[in-house]
Amino acid sequence: MERQEVSLKKEDGVALLRIERPKRLNALSRDIVKQIGELLEEIEVDEETRVLLIHSEKHFAAGADIQDMAECNEQEAAEFVFSPVFDRIEALPIPTVAAIEGYALGGGLELALACDIRFAAETAKMGFPEINLGIMPGAGGTVRAPKLIGASAAMELIFSGGTISAQRAWELGLVNRLEPEASLFEAAWEFAARLSKKAPLALRMAKKTIQEGLAMDSEIAAVHNESKNWASLFRTEDQKEGMRAFLEKRSPVYQGK
Ligand code: CAA
Repeated sequence: MERQEVSLKKEDGVALLRIERPKRLNALSRDIVKQIGELLEEIEVDEETRVLLIHSEKHFAAGADIQDMAECNEQEAAEFVFSPVFDRIEALPIPTVAAIEGYALGGGLELALACDIRFAAETAKMGFPEINLGIMPGAGGTVRAPKLIGASAAMELIFSGGTISAQRAWELGLVNRLEPEASLFEAAWEFAARLSKKAPLALRMAKKTIQEGLAMDSEIAAVHNESKNWASLFRTEDQKEGMRAFLEKRSPVYQGK
């Protein structure tokens, strides 16, 4: 493997993952995605990490590395796909936040879509340019974008291969929050740090319950599942602490137990 082009720093319960390949606008090479996968192994077992924040300087990621893919045959393309790693990001039990500045294109946008929440700089640009290369999104874009913004809006983006402004992405619901470019990282970090202070077991249960509910065909079954998961939180010390703290008019201190 080449030199490390992905960094991971942990502070105050937030793990900050960054792609560091500025000369290629943080385009995602095979090695970079492999490195992300290796760092995920660490995050997956780290009880102290309460939130994952993904942010890269200047550009989130200008897509999969076209040089890496250009000569792939079908078998090699099947091995190139990023979905196994992106699916693990989606499956993390903790909240995940993407902070997008500059370009988030193709596989870069798909990386952001694998996160739970997206912040974007007002100057960010997003899109699925794959069609312009004779392919289509292949790392979750055709699945996650329609779920988020509806099939027709996703088809418009994917069929046209055009790039949209952050404002348009916000109007479509592709991103949750728009921030001035200068304060994007600070705002996303502050949000992630705030989540890291919330009751960790309740956060994990909320994420799990939302994901389970989305995967269920029956709304009744999903609501029943929610009731069961909700009640299970009453086994935790955090529930006692949260409610006692309210009644005692003080801030709760959660142990994740
Ligand atoms: N792969 C490889 N290299 C890339 C890249 C990519 N996705 N995106 C940018 N680069 C490289 C450029 O080739 C250039 O390298 P050199 O300096 O060696 O020439 C360098 O990064 C800077 O880029 P530009 O000079 O092109 O910068 P720009 O500001 O003029 O344009 C851009 C920026 C519009 C993002 C343009 O770089 C671009 O169109 N990039 C390709 C975007 C793209 O098509 N992404 C989708 C890839 S396919 C995919 O992601 C498949 C999937 O589903 C997983």
